[in-house]
Amino acid sequence: MRIALGVGGGIAAYKSAEVARALQQLGHEVQVILTRAAQEFIQPLTFAALTNHKVITGLFSQTSAQDTLSSAVEHIAVAKENDALVVAPATADLLAKFAHGLSDDFVSTLYLAFTGQVILAPAMNNAMWQHPATQANIEILRERGCVIIEPDSGWLACGTMGEGRLADPVRIAERVDSLKRQKRDFEGEVLLLTAGPTQEPLDPVRYISNRSSGKMGYALASAAAKRGARVLLISGPVNLPPPHNTEVISVRTASEMRKAVMDHLAEATMIIKNAAVADYYVSSVPQQKLKKTAARVSLELDPTPDILAEIGQLKGDRLLIGFVAETQNLLEEARRKMITKNCDMVVANLVSQEGVGFEADQNEVDMVIRSGQVIHAGPADKREIAEQILDQVAVLRLTIRSVESPV
Ligand SMILES: Cc1cc2nc3c(=O)[nH]c(=O)nc-3n(C[C@H](O)[C@H](O)[C@H](O)COP(=O)(O)O)c2cc1C
Repeated sequence: MRIALGVGGGIAAYKSAEVARALQQLGHEVQVILTRAAQEFIQPLTFAALTNHKVITGLFSQTSAQDTLSSAVEHIAVAKENDALVVAPATADLLAKFAHGLSDDFVSTLYLAFTGQVILAPAMNNAMWQHPATQANIEILRERGCVIIEPDSGWLACGTMGEGRLADPVRIAERVDSLKRQKRDFEGEVLLLTAGPTQEPLDPVRYISNRSSGKMGYALASAAAKRGARVLLISGPVNLPPPHNTEVISVRTASEMRKAVMDHLAEATMIIKNAAVADYYVSSVPQQKLKKTAARVSLELDPTPDILAEIGQLKGDRLLIGFVAETQNLLEEARRKMITKNCDMVVANLVSQEGVGFEADQNEVDMVIRSGQVIHAGPADKREIAEQILDQVAVLRLTIRSVESPV
């Protein structure tokens, strides 16, 4: 594979020579680009000798007439020719430029022109790394689909101890290698995915809802899109940016969610119903805001439509994955749901644990499969749990489809 390696102006720039070498040892061709600040730390000649390629040192750095002719718009040519853009070290400055779309040097201009996988390995002093501005930029870039290879902890060049040291160059190269070899095992699939909570109005300003943040569903949507699926994400109200390469259909109530699911069911080849849909709603919502009085009020609630059960009836040969969130008897409930709702797998979430499940970034789940097998995952970041769930979906798909179409 062809990899563009951008080197930022940090003290760890010397280690990027090892990154280039390790990538080459894994069989990749490497085109190095040094920012002006990087050249204060390491010479282009080092990389030219290692990679056998001219090193790019600036947006306007062509030196010969031939260079100018062959690559007049070199950042676009480099963007087209390479399969991945790796930036190591990614300085605080480069992260800020990428996050906010600045393009006043070759690496940041290439970042904007590049449509493939971007992998960033930040390195800086630990206060710079932990600064809210840097962390906000990291979050923006992550949400946009960049892979962040987190810095290590240890002694930093500035003489302090903490997080900020460039990840091990060989580890960076191996991560890039594994990402580029990442399976596109959901290519051709259309995944209908529900996520987030629903809100059921009580009056024009109040509603009943739950603590679902949508993070698990959004992580699944993003992972499935990366693995090649067309993702139709039906989302309740959440505070999350739309995942890259997905089609988001925003809904508010359980009945709107049901309608959106039914409208798109025919397109889907697999369905993951991760949304925490309200179980009850008020059928006759008053037109005007309810006034507060000293009197006790009681609410009359009706059950919401059982979307999962309805999909279960109509699913045909589509794969159906449900979620169950319980505070007790988790596995029994997951098994009951799988049978009664005709699911192929139910992912069980124990929501009474601190730090995992609702609202948290981490999760710990049991995947209950029709065969009776239970596969545990986590505790881990929801993005990692999403990958593990999709791995099981891929296995299930193979089993189910090969049973249904014997040769
Ligand atoms: C000795 C020295 C070491 C530096 N190390 C780092 C570093 O490790 N990480 C970082 O983000 N910035 C570091 N900086 C600051 C950057 O060099 C500076 O922000 C520069 O504008 C980054 O340029 P770039 O966008 O080309 O990476 C360092 C500066 C100096 C003078």
